[in-house]
Amino acid sequence: MPDPLILGLESSCDDTAAAVLRGREILSSVVMGQTELHAAFGGVVPEIAARAHAEKLDLAVEEAVSRAGVTLADLDAVAVTAGPGLIGGVLSGVMLAKGLATGLGKPLVGVNHLAGHALTPRLTDGLVYPYLMLLVSGGHCQFLIARGPQEFTRLGGTIDDAPGEAFDKTARLLGLPQPGGPSVEEASKEADETRFAFPRPLLDRPGCDLSFSGLKTALLRTRDKLVAEQGGLHEADRADLCAGFQAAVRDVLREKTRRALALYLAESPAVPAFAIAGGVAANKAIRAALETLCAEVGVRFTAPPLALCTDNAAMIAYAGSELLAAGETADMTLAARPRWPLDRAAAPLLGSGKKGAKA
Ligand code: KG4
Ligand code: ZN
Repeated sequence: MPDPLILGLESSCDDTAAAVLRGREILSSVVMGQTELHAAFGGVVPEIAARAHAEKLDLAVEEAVSRAGVTLADLDAVAVTAGPGLIGGVLSGVMLAKGLATGLGKPLVGVNHLAGHALTPRLTDGLVYPYLMLLVSGGHCQFLIARGPQEFTRLGGTIDDAPGEAFDKTARLLGLPQPGGPSVEEASKEADETRFAFPRPLLDRPGCDLSFSGLKTALLRTRDKLVAEQGGLHEADRADLCAGFQAAVRDVLREKTRRALALYLAESPAVPAFAIAGGVAANKAIRAALETLCAEVGVRFTAPPLALCTDNAAMIAYAGSELLAAGETADMTLAARPRWPLDRAAAPLLGSGKKGAKA
């Protein structure tokens, strides 16, 4: 029997997405962003996002199905993000998926958005369970051991901001364009990362938890001090501030990854592998540091392509296919959940990212 043909829907934040997959083959992946709708507000406005999802979801589905060269009737299942995220958007997706599944008489699968991200290395690189994952983006930062489509152990995560958020804030403080990550990385090239001594938060504490809000404050103070002394910032100041900030994030991620790898390797996994995913995984300095670290301890390093690290529906369809294979289908009682931690045993995280609740 061929692998089932699965439609995936994603609408938990500010991307309206639909994709069609057969097994690990992505037949189509449509992502309709909303950046311009939220641009004037300095962040994602939940009500605007929900309305845009409601308007665009069926268009995304039509396009995904037609680009895949199939019809709705060919589908074997409908998978949808059922949380965590901005509730209005999640609801739009869940309602449409219920309608489609009922109309087509096909199974419905409710997918955890974070599981979608966490299973992406299986879709792209065929990793086998258990593998260690670092999810690091504008909204998330956590270390997970993935053991199965619904089985994750959280080793640690940020206790305040996500690193992408800190990159964005840094860029804003220095008058560089958004998204901040690429601007800060670009400005750091050939700059002096040792000129400003930024803190390496939480390195003095055991464990894999991280913190980035203090780093942001340190950057703000250093900037203000320079402005007070010189009356403004020179190009070189800006570059050195960026480089110092990026080096601090890199060092913290490297040390915490070292600890997470040690915990993971203590379980003697059959095929040790590490994956980094999320927007911040695009950062070459961070990536190179973690790649070197993995080589040192004999762990395979993978990083899914960026288009599959940022929000998309291919990851939802893929996670849906694993759940379907495990018989984990949903029914019409499937609820949209604003919060939905991956590790059911771990203590809930406090705080809320700029794009919604951190699960
Ligand atoms: O995964 P993502 O696209 O979206 C969510 O957070 O949901 O991640 C976006 C984040 C932004 O904060 C952006 O500044 C950051 O990833 N980012 C980077 C780089 N490219 C994107 N951070 C550091 N270096 C980069 N090259
Ligand atoms: Zn996401």
